[in-house]
Amino acid sequence: MPPARSTHRVITIATASQKGGVGKTTVCVNLAYSLARRGWNTLLVDTDPQGAVGLSLAKSTRLKAGFYDFIAGGAEVKDFILTTRLPEFSILPAGHYDTVSRHGLHLEDVPRRIRDLLRGAELHGVDCVLLDTAAGLTGITEMVVKAADYALIPQQSEPLAVRSVPHMLETLARFRSEGAGTKVAGVLLSMVMNDSPVSLQVARELRQVLPPELVFTQSIPRLQSFLEASAQGLPVALLKKNPPPEAVLFDQIAAELEERVGLIRDKEQGYRHASLLD
Ligand SMILES: Nc1ncnc2c1ncn2[C@@H]1O[C@H](COP(=O)(O)OP(=O)(O)OP(=O)(O)O)[C@@H](O)[C@H]1O
Ligand SMILES: [Mg+2]
Repeated sequence: MPPARSTHRVITIATASQKGGVGKTTVCVNLAYSLARRGWNTLLVDTDPQGAVGLSLAKSTRLKAGFYDFIAGGAEVKDFILTTRLPEFSILPAGHYDTVSRHGLHLEDVPRRIRDLLRGAELHGVDCVLLDTAAGLTGITEMVVKAADYALIPQQSEPLAVRSVPHMLETLARFRSEGAGTKVAGVLLSMVMNDSPVSLQVARELRQVLPPELVFTQSIPRLQSFLEASAQGLPVALLKKNPPPEAVLFDQIAAELEERVGLIRDKEQGYRHASLLD
């Protein structure tokens, strides 16, 4: 039996990165798919005005309105949610960024609208919201990360990483000092080049300098299949008729994430969040 709605609590996770092109969207699409396959009712929200997250997955792309249209006011969250063939997986596309300015919405009202969105997703029965963000941690992206329970930090395995991860952690600490409740879900090493000694050395160094619990055990290799899948707006598991072996990596990352953020499976009551045990 599913948990009673009154005690249901959604978990919200935003990607966070100062730099562009680090794999945020790839991580979001693949992770959201794995979480959904593992039974969580998962909503993938595209907050990147440039984004077109996983649109190949949605049954209908006729509704192109999304995150920014909701933020601008009016309709309910569920009116913007696109379903996919997997009932547990739904998508809120970015929609039209310009509606925010056209509707005369003040930037200071946006955090409240983001909270309304997350609450709306919760009421809609969503267990986990993954928010894909634009690069940088200012403006609406800062508001999205501040509204999320957790920040997930995809990090390329490149020489600058040893400096940029501490910088990111400082920024998140500043957000908390400004009143945000955003905790760190973890640093996820992405695009690791297993044939590059430099890339492997950076990955090793990062694991040495950061507290071990901060870094996901599983990392993501740089592979052609991820590139191809993201070009098609798909998780890698759906790229071919039979999922390639690397598809299982995101199932492992999803399992790790569940532990990190307290998405807990309860045999008697179905899926529920750790806060039900509080
Ligand atoms: N593990 C991977 N192996 C190979 N290519 C990858 C991998 N992850 C991401 N890519 C490719 O790298 C590019 C950037 O990835 P992605 O779009 O996920 O990054 P992003 O952080 O969302 O970028 P942006 O800041 O522009 O939103 C894309 O072309 C994507 O297909
Ligand atoms: Mg992106």
